[in-house]
Amino acid sequence: MSFRTTRTVDYVEDVAPGAGALAPRAWYAASDAKSLSLNGDWRFRLSATADAEDDSFAAEGYDAGDWAEVTVPGHWVLQGDGAFGAPIYTNHLYPFPVDPPHVPTENPTGDHLRVFDLPDDWPALGDGDAVLRFDGVESCARIWLNGTELGEFKGSRLPHEFTVGALLKPAGNVLAVRVHQWSAGSYLEDQDQWWLPGIFRDVTLLHRPVGAAGDFFVHASYDHATGEGTLRVDSDVDGRVSVPALDIDVATGESVTVAVEPWSAETPELYDGELVTAGERVPLRIGFRTVVLADGLIKVNGRAILFRGVNRHEWHPERGRALDLETMREDVLLMKRHNLNAVRTSHYPPHPAFLDLCDEYGLWVIDECDLETHGFTEQGWRDNPVDDDRWTPALLDRAARMVERDKNHPSIVFWSLGNEAGTGRGLTAMAEWIHGRDTSRLVHYEGDWNCRDTDVYSRMYASHAEVERIGQHLDGGTGKRRELPFIQCEYGHAMGNGPGGIADYQQIFERHDRLQGGFIWEWIDHGVRHPELGFAYGGDFGEELHDGNFVCDGLVFPDRRPSPGLVEYKKVIEPVRIEGADGAVRVTNAYDFADLSHLEFEFAYQVDGESTGAHTLAVPPLAPGESAEVKLPAAAPDGDGAEVRWTVRALLAADSPWAGRGHEVAWGQRTVAPRAPLATATGAEPTADGDLIVLGPGTFDAATGALLSVGGVDVTGPRLDVWRAPTDNDDGASWQDDARWGVLWRQLGLHRMRHRLDGVAAEAGSLTVRTRVAPAARDVALRTVYRWTSDGERLRLSVSVTPEGDWKVPLPRLGVRLGLPAAVTGSATWFGSGGEAYPDTRAAAKLLRWDAGIEELQTPYVRPQENGARSDVRWAELGGLRIEGEPEFWFSARPWTSEQLDAARHLTDLVPGDTVWVNLDHGQHGIGSQSCGPGPLPQYFLKAEPAEFSFVFAPAR
Ligand code: GAL
Repeated sequence: MSFRTTRTVDYVEDVAPGAGALAPRAWYAASDAKSLSLNGDWRFRLSATADAEDDSFAAEGYDAGDWAEVTVPGHWVLQGDGAFGAPIYTNHLYPFPVDPPHVPTENPTGDHLRVFDLPDDWPALGDGDAVLRFDGVESCARIWLNGTELGEFKGSRLPHEFTVGALLKPAGNVLAVRVHQWSAGSYLEDQDQWWLPGIFRDVTLLHRPVGAAGDFFVHASYDHATGEGTLRVDSDVDGRVSVPALDIDVATGESVTVAVEPWSAETPELYDGELVTAGERVPLRIGFRTVVLADGLIKVNGRAILFRGVNRHEWHPERGRALDLETMREDVLLMKRHNLNAVRTSHYPPHPAFLDLCDEYGLWVIDECDLETHGFTEQGWRDNPVDDDRWTPALLDRAARMVERDKNHPSIVFWSLGNEAGTGRGLTAMAEWIHGRDTSRLVHYEGDWNCRDTDVYSRMYASHAEVERIGQHLDGGTGKRRELPFIQCEYGHAMGNGPGGIADYQQIFERHDRLQGGFIWEWIDHGVRHPELGFAYGGDFGEELHDGNFVCDGLVFPDRRPSPGLVEYKKVIEPVRIEGADGAVRVTNAYDFADLSHLEFEFAYQVDGESTGAHTLAVPPLAPGESAEVKLPAAAPDGDGAEVRWTVRALLAADSPWAGRGHEVAWGQRTVAPRAPLATATGAEPTADGDLIVLGPGTFDAATGALLSVGGVDVTGPRLDVWRAPTDNDDGASWQDDARWGVLWRQLGLHRMRHRLDGVAAEAGSLTVRTRVAPAARDVALRTVYRWTSDGERLRLSVSVTPEGDWKVPLPRLGVRLGLPAAVTGSATWFGSGGEAYPDTRAAAKLLRWDAGIEELQTPYVRPQENGARSDVRWAELGGLRIEGEPEFWFSARPWTSEQLDAARHLTDLVPGDTVWVNLDHGQHGIGSQSCGPGPLPQYFLKAEPAEFSFVFAPAR
């Protein structure tokens, strides 16, 4: 074949979606037709511009022997150890000049080559046809097979298929794919994530037998009044549909109604079926459910649902958005195990296998189109492609590729037009087309608060107060909006430590019918595994324009370890509420569909945080919304001065597909008898010993009053501490109008407090040290008095703090910090919350007796910041010391100082020193969500107010 080389690159900047691809159709993983995965090692050549090379590489016989190799699916910038460029992270700014549809001359272009043979069992050439399917290529690809150009396309996270049967050979097929990083399509793909070019999803050759299935649409509704499902499969190619378990065997296009178990996220009943055409058998997994907007509510199978959701980007710390099935399954299992019931596929259709998993395990899905034009906000949305008719064909193409690909998933209840694309005619066109094509689902889009095109009023990061107003229908808005239900498609910004305040949101959601829940932003930190930095974020690859660690804002760390935010969310959205009542446990079923028969309830008393043996709590199989009071199964033990509490745990009674028997779904605790008050520890007299003062087990510096050792354990401090390494949520986002406390704290100088000694007095059974703690350059201060007493065995510290001056900001923390020699510190034991907790991230604080090494007490936020506090701590033991507190205190211990934590940019900057720094805090400021949302609610402020708190130090037991 003769091959004429060209350097045509006009298509790159063409607003049209592409040329040559087949019409979109339903996606399925497998049928009885043959297929051949073309994933694997491909030859690869990178050019700096789109037209640096002609297309001779696509010709048969081209020798690419000296090219590099990349793995497909993959992103070339994450391969080749930096030889193929680097990832770029921007939130909404386009990393190129905004001049649509033009892109820079510097346009990294990856030529990919793969030579393949057909397997021996491939049908004879000429027997049917074949299709080449690309499931995802960022951002623009041009394709050749055996020297013949097939076409080009844009729409990175959408499938494209090409007919290739006539071009195939038994052996030595040459598939050539030219991928441009930037294209007109990039203007439509300005999602807040890394820009990662490449063939990042599967490439598959599909045999299409004569009479193969074409496109088909499974309509499977459920009538909750009759308990019947109606099935009709519309198919381009006639055939039959069978569902053995339901005795269904009908022609395509024909309806059949039978009694079924409905599909819901809680009860994901799927029926195996088959679509059989003359040439192909396609397996179907059918879920019967009906989604409607009725009475101003989103109802499925006749009931309003409450989204307990999360926004999920596709992410893997090494492979970027090239996810394998096991990683997708891990996401779904983690979500199910943490009580989530919904996913918004922000901000593009995910790999289709993820949706199969959502069908199978049960998650409501908002499937979002691959569309965001957020960068146009910088120019007041001028030239926004969604309001420019020239781009409408591309938008409609994207909508169609999403809907046609994914329409057979029962898990999808909403189509979303995209994210942060302003408003415009193109969006309306998309919504009209979608509504026309699929009447069985609703349409979502957040960017138009008038809800012109949508079936739900959706917002992101609305404050608690506003959500409350919306719940009460007091939010005004257009007539249409007033009739619609409300969701927060994004809230609770999980960047770093946090999000705070989600329990308060949940209470509001549950208070008002109109509020149908929300989706935390977001599932996973997009940190890139890096040899020196641990996990890299924006700027770590030398990007001149970037948004730092704003890309690390997930409920799980980049390696999918759950962060405390996920544990908190699990508790906040638990589907069973367990509360104390008089002599009883009140249990409420908060599921939308399931009764409680799949759970067993375990009851145990704890004395001083330690369980005394478990009992079964007989809870009736309550229906959704019902509650019951269940008598305590045993009398409380005598605590003998120790605190007595009970804990009830709701556990899976049998193995489920997503967790084993015994998995904890929900829990509750209650105090039965409080602990005895803290020992007064008085009676011993301070005695002078040279430069030292001795009081009971404590030795002090006589000049400064500083404690030097307790019971032979050397200590540094304790002294007043107000500083915490600001969290991302403390620092807030630069565009926030409200006070950003992290910034104000630093301005005030709370990170460089000076401690002035005003007096040391050893007298009448006590040692009193008076100080004034204040930042340089400012007139505010905290008068702090440390009063030490002892009974000879124990040493008691009472701290009293009196603010001076006009404090306009809350304090980050208020307590004492002391240092212990790392060599002897060992691990810690305490009675308090097991995991990290702060005032507004404390729902999951399960108060028991816990042990942990110092390392385990650190939460590895990708950008180091305040972390690891345990709340409600009654006592803690470490380094040979026992520390009891009154009132309960916040406990943290770290092998570096807060100042070192503050200075670090990556976890690898933190190196353990020879001192373990222990914070015993009377108070902590709330966390909030201000890195992209509201700050802490006022009730979680740590106000600068007079405070008194005490600790008793004694040798560990
Ligand atoms: C939203 C946006 C998300 C993400 C988030 C902040 O505005 O929709 O994509 O950028 O803010 O992390």
